[in-house]
Amino acid sequence: MTDLGPLTGRTIEELCRAGGATEGVLYLLDREHECYRRTAVLGSPSDSTFPGSLPLSHPVPHHLYASYKLALERHRPADMSQIAREPSVGSALTAMGVALVLPHVNRGRLIAFSLLGTPRSQDHEPASVNSLLAALAQTATNAFDTHMLYEDLHRSHLLMKRTDRLKSLETIAGGFAHEIRNPLTSIKTFIQLAPERKDDPDFIREFSRIVLDDVYRIERLIEEILDYARYMEPKLTEEDVNDIVSSCLYFIDVKADSRGIKIEKELASDLPRVMLDRQQIKQVFLNLFLNALDAMGGRGGSLRVRTRTLVKPGGKLWVQVETEDTGEGIQEGNLEHIFDPFFTTKHESGEHEGTGLGLTIVHQIIQEHRGEIQVQSAQGKGTTFFVNLPALSA
Ligand SMILES: Nc1ncnc2c1ncn2[C@@H]1O[C@H](COP(=O)(O)OP(=O)(O)OP(=O)(O)O)[C@@H](O)[C@H]1O
Ligand SMILES: [Mg+2]
Repeated sequence: MTDLGPLTGRTIEELCRAGGATEGVLYLLDREHECYRRTAVLGSPSDSTFPGSLPLSHPVPHHLYASYKLALERHRPADMSQIAREPSVGSALTAMGVALVLPHVNRGRLIAFSLLGTPRSQDHEPASVNSLLAALAQTATNAFDTHMLYEDLHRSHLLMKRTDRLKSLETIAGGFAHEIRNPLTSIKTFIQLAPERKDDPDFIREFSRIVLDDVYRIERLIEEILDYARYMEPKLTEEDVNDIVSSCLYFIDVKADSRGIKIEKELASDLPRVMLDRQQIKQVFLNLFLNALDAMGGRGGSLRVRTRTLVKPGGKLWVQVETEDTGEGIQEGNLEHIFDPFFTTKHESGEHEGTGLGLTIVHQIIQEHRGEIQVQSAQGKGTTFFVNLPALSA
């Protein structure tokens, strides 16, 4: 179980069963808010006795942690008697009606604790009950720890994606400045001419339409850039891949131009639509295109982008995007590492130092879309990436 709700619920249930208690509460460490949060309850303990969250400094967790450390030093597991011996904790627990306290400690950290009410009867040997409880508590602790590792992993993936996205914003900003120059010129011209042509209805009608379109275009661009920069939860929408590819090519156009790199696009006209997260797929193509530009350095060359429909065995439709550059290519020994986190050959030599996260993110996003990515490369000649995405059937 990696889902926190059922996991903590089941834990407190099993602990209460083993300890013969009818009431129990489990508090789990909330690392973000630096407190312990009540995540599972058995029976009907009151909110005033067991608040929704307890500060780290509350005597119970505070002392549980201290006594655990003490116990570790003595090479003995922490037990209830030690905790109750501390007067402030003892009175806090008595006030709560708690008979048993189980610390969940992992790698020296109190990640949770379970508080159990008074047992129904004492028909079991206390020592055997305690060792059963200790074993159950340890199993639960391991599961909580796994859950926290999952959370950490998820968080670092998000962080990586975000860092990578902000990096490509620099290029986008350059493209944006270039993109809005034309519509701005037409708006300016209209405003300059309007006073003297205000009585010419054809002029006013025609130009108003153009200017309005230009304003919409600028608005759209601003929206696209903001969407791209802002991190949002993945959002799947039905999209035209050609449109996304074109928009990314727009953004890198200025950079390519300044390096004498020709961009050629061959976009299939009858491409099926794909359910995808527009901003994430943009991130994929921007990363691939920027890598292609880097591989060509200042020597010029060409970046050819093609889209096509693939029909896989069984009749399933896929959309393929091929990115072919005439850059330096990838050394054979490096091919198997290019998707590894932090693998980069750009060590301050070129315009920028690489983080080696670009292709890791690309791979991750494609996987999340149940797609595929393949690469072919010939040293000194160039590299081709194929991105396949499952399409919506017609
Ligand atoms: N089109 C390409 N041509 C040649 N080599 C490439 C190409 N794409 C990727 N590589 C190689 O793969 C490595 C990893 O790429 P990745 O995008 O993950 O990181 P990076 O480009 O080095 O750094 P960053 O993306 O942070 O700028 C690159 O350093 C480069 O050696
Ligand atoms: Mg890169």
